[in-house]
Amino acid sequence: MRLRRVVFDLLVYESVDELEQEDHILMNEAVKARKNAYSPYSKFNVGAAVLLDNGEIVIGNNQENASYPSGLCAERVAIFYASAKFPGVGIKTIAINATSKNFVVNKPAAPCGNCRQSISEYEIKQRRPISIIMSGETGEVLKCNSVSDILPLAFNSTFLG
Ligand code: THU
Repeated sequence: MRLRRVVFDLLVYESVDELEQEDHILMNEAVKARKNAYSPYSKFNVGAAVLLDNGEIVIGNNQENASYPSGLCAERVAIFYASAKFPGVGIKTIAINATSKNFVVNKPAAPCGNCRQSISEYEIKQRRPISIIMSGETGEVLKCNSVSDILPLAFNSTFLG
């Protein structure tokens, strides 16, 4: 048996104001997008903004449904929309922001497993990392430089032969 330790760099910012300009602008778009979340069931509002190589920013927010599993997370709405609107254009960064009508979200909103898998698909396809920036309503802001950092050992098409 061998031990293989998997480590990654997580950048920790005191607040969004500490972000570099490009990331700050993107996070502001995620915050704006969050305000249009359709979340009557969870009351948890998430906004996402995707920055593309052509400079375009594509946004998404969570869209819920009375049949709960039919809803979709903000990150996937945004990244699917980006791929639908600008197929083949490289994806640089995705910013995520979350609030709740029921409590103060005092830590960054990290993407769920399904969203990590979906972002990973595009990262592998473009052979270049996609950065993820995460924020809540208060508290620190996190950035990782690749979705593979937060989805190690990801399932991918190489397993399909
Ligand atoms: N949600 C997201 O939009 N992104 C995530 O990464 C996790 C959860 C949404 C789904 C649902 O509308 C609500 O937050 C509560 O789970």
